[in-house]
Amino acid sequence: MDVTTGKLSGKAAIITGSTSGMGKGIAERFAGEGAAVVITGRDERRGNQVVGGIRDAGGRAVFVRGDVSQFETNQLLVNVAVEKFGGVDIIVPNAGMLGIGSVTELPVETWHRTLDTNLSAAFYLIKLGIPEMHKRGGGVILVNGSIAAWKEFPAHPAYCASKAALVALVKQVALDYGPMIRANILCPGQVDTPFLWESTKAFPNPEEVVAQVVEEHLVMKRLGTPEDIANAALFLVSDDSSWITGASLVVDGGRILGG
Ligand SMILES: NC(=O)c1ccc[n+]([C@@H]2O[C@H](COP(=O)([O-])OP(=O)(O)OC[C@H]3O[C@@H](n4cnc5c(N)ncnc54)[C@H](O)[C@@H]3O)[C@@H](O)[C@H]2O)c1
Repeated sequence: MDVTTGKLSGKAAIITGSTSGMGKGIAERFAGEGAAVVITGRDERRGNQVVGGIRDAGGRAVFVRGDVSQFETNQLLVNVAVEKFGGVDIIVPNAGMLGIGSVTELPVETWHRTLDTNLSAAFYLIKLGIPEMHKRGGGVILVNGSIAAWKEFPAHPAYCASKAALVALVKQVALDYGPMIRANILCPGQVDTPFLWESTKAFPNPEEVVAQVVEEHLVMKRLGTPEDIANAALFLVSDDSSWITGASLVVDGGRILGG
């Protein structure tokens, strides 16, 4: 790890949903570029493992357990970043859930839980993070969205609506808080994480379903990896993208091409 000359040296970052999948990949990548990272999720054991891995590699990390759909959890994340790392420079609202079910079947409670987890949690962290970023002279917000913001998937109304709303939220934040603060959204295609496999659980043949998903990637013929997403995330939070704000970056191996 290069904590002194990395692209994110001296920066403090909060990444939600960072005990697994893309959040973990993003946190490890940021830490490898010198950022001190706040790891958060609901699973303490996994959280401590991620923190241990980053520290063993010479990086700085701390774990905070919590449910991001609660405002108080996001307040705690910001407080910990300030106390442990001196402030907040980068926030990545990444945690998400699927909430599968077509409109007539989806329980109202699941609709609210999905919107709270995917959309309101991002709003809370952005709302609480911006004043701290101002104290540091600026900052960067990177939301993890989905191609579901642009492309419908059968029986995913809450998921697609929440991800489309995140695109609008990010553009609004970019307009209201630039140039001191940049805000962008990543829109990944299907990435090989526990989340993807969870989405296939309802089917009797999950492996065949995932194989079909791979086939639907007409260009690259493979799923994404957390590293593919972490590379794009690093670009969007580093000075390499200093003239990019309010943007949606689709990172999907060409998944949305060809229908
Ligand atoms: N995997 C994919 O194919 C895919 C594609 C596009 C977008 N995404 C998005 O990427 C993001 C990360 O997902 P992933 O694929 O890495 O899956 P993942 O399951 O590995 O990670 C999601 C994390 O969010 C956490 N989380 C969910 N609800 C939470 C809550 N209320 N409070 C705290 N933590 C919570 C989960 O416990 C998990 O650790 C999600 O927002 C998801 O919508 C995933």
